[in-house]
Amino acid sequence: MMNPEFYSRVADEFGEYTSGGLRTDVFPDGDPEAAFDELARGLGDPDGRLVDVGCADGRSLLRIAPVFGSVLGIDMSPSMLESAERRLEKVGLGNVRFERRDASRTGLPDGEADVLTSRRGPLFPGEFLRVLRPGGHLIYMGIGETDVRELKETFGRGQFFGRWDGRPVMDEVVEELTGSGFTVVLEKSFRTVEFYHSPVELDRFLRQVPIFEDYDTVADRDLFERYVASAGSDRGVRLDRHWFVVQARTAA
Ligand SMILES: C[S@@+](CC[C@H](N)C(=O)[O-])C[C@H]1O[C@@H](n2cnc3c(N)ncnc32)[C@H](O)[C@@H]1O
Repeated sequence: MMNPEFYSRVADEFGEYTSGGLRTDVFPDGDPEAAFDELARGLGDPDGRLVDVGCADGRSLLRIAPVFGSVLGIDMSPSMLESAERRLEKVGLGNVRFERRDASRTGLPDGEADVLTSRRGPLFPGEFLRVLRPGGHLIYMGIGETDVRELKETFGRGQFFGRWDGRPVMDEVVEELTGSGFTVVLEKSFRTVEFYHSPVELDRFLRQVPIFEDYDTVADRDLFERYVASAGSDRGVRLDRHWFVVQARTAA
């Protein structure tokens, strides 16, 4: 899921993390990206130090960066980081830098961050705890167990296939963070319904995400068409997403 080589291939082919595919989103539980941005901005401070792990092309990070004093985005994929540098140049923020670092062993000094974010990025609670200052905050966005379930059922494979019968991923993350010494202050699940404007747009999206790391437009055509036939509507081809956001803080 977190395979940096996969993301490098995507950045090389599409020039960035994901421009998705044209679609309309419906948010019965609110927009998870906006909720994440709001939480992060709420912790902003002119002297605040933000570290974002798994920043990819930096598009999400650059939205929240202006309210922090210094911002570091880290990722393992050189192509994503190049793409992030291009975006940074366009927006011209002087407080942001991008570096190639492994989130499991960042090499950053203890207590280097006031806020650490990981949006669909890696989660290494022990390392995050070390890098955050006492009383610092972590905001994490993860993929829920029912994400694109119907699509995966049609394909008979995919990231976390069959996981929907198991324990909620969010509960596991909360337990993992608590066990590592964090205090969880917020946990929220988000169901989002995406309507791809045409099958071509859904195909484009599937080539850019690791839902099926081996997705192939030609080899998977029959399965793809079966899904489109079952999930098609007058609004487009439906894809049911499931995200969750957890905020946790370290002891003061
Ligand atoms: C799903 S993308 C997240 C994109 C970005 N956070 C966003 O939401 O726009 C996951 C990113 O994590 C990076 N990644 C995976 N393992 C990593 C690791 N151990 N250290 C740093 N980055 C990693 C991948 O290269 C990829 O760019």
